Amino acid sequence: MRKPLIAGNWKMHKTINEAVELVSALKRELFDFNQADIVVCPPFTALDNVHEIIMDTNIKLGAQNLFYQKQGAFTGEVSPAMIKDCGCEYAIIGHSERRKYFGETDTMVNKRIQVALEEGFTPIFCVGETLEERENNKTIEVIDIQLKGGLENMKEEDILKIVIAYEPVWAIGTGKTATPRQAEEVHMFIRKWIEEHYSSSCASMLRILYGGSVKAENIKDLMKQENIDGALVGGASLNADAFVSIVKNSSN
Ligand code: 13P
Repeated sequence: MRKPLIAGNWKMHKTINEAVELVSALKRELFDFNQADIVVCPPFTALDNVHEIIMDTNIKLGAQNLFYQKQGAFTGEVSPAMIKDCGCEYAIIGHSERRKYFGETDTMVNKRIQVALEEGFTPIFCVGETLEERENNKTIEVIDIQLKGGLENMKEEDILKIVIAYEPVWAIGTGKTATPRQAEEVHMFIRKWIEEHYSSSCASMLRILYGGSVKAENIKDLMKQENIDGALVGGASLNADAFVSIVKNSSN
């Protein structure tokens, strides 16, 4: 049985004070909730302050990215050691916004996952197709390429430490959620892919999250699907009541 995992990706939202206010509200409702693993991914600037508030709770901290070099002349980048210092245990890698706006390729994503694993993080590795790709019946092909590129040279023991998030680009921030069936189709493909490239026990342990306009109202139907093990939540994670409801609705 895979334990549900609900992660909030705050993207480029919340100053330190706003982040502290949001996470304090989450803590009041979720501090001892243990039917799902809960992760919040604030912007880098608020990591440290958020960590201080959640360190005695079940809520874990994640970064929205990390760079694949350990240190050096890489202006504007943040290293694995820096986010570890702030208390991060998870790191989102390969989000479609990173791919689209910042030119991150499958090769870069692969390097980031490798470094994240070396440094003991749980990578949340994102894959997903654009609307054009879906309309041209390219969804499975695109996911296959992203999985091959992102997971190149990974061993079974690495896969056991990774979480995969399927986020159809056309469902992100649009209010247009993939139907549970559409999502399940791709989740099933991902699990089969892992089974074929690794093993069935590895595939059965892998947690695959769905992301794209997840709300309190649609999480239950998504979670009913056999291969959906949780959610990566954007917009709705910025509101304490909405995120708390998503977490609570994910496990019953
Ligand atoms: P929304 O929930 O705002 O659609 O964002 C999804 C997402 O990109 C999470 O990483």
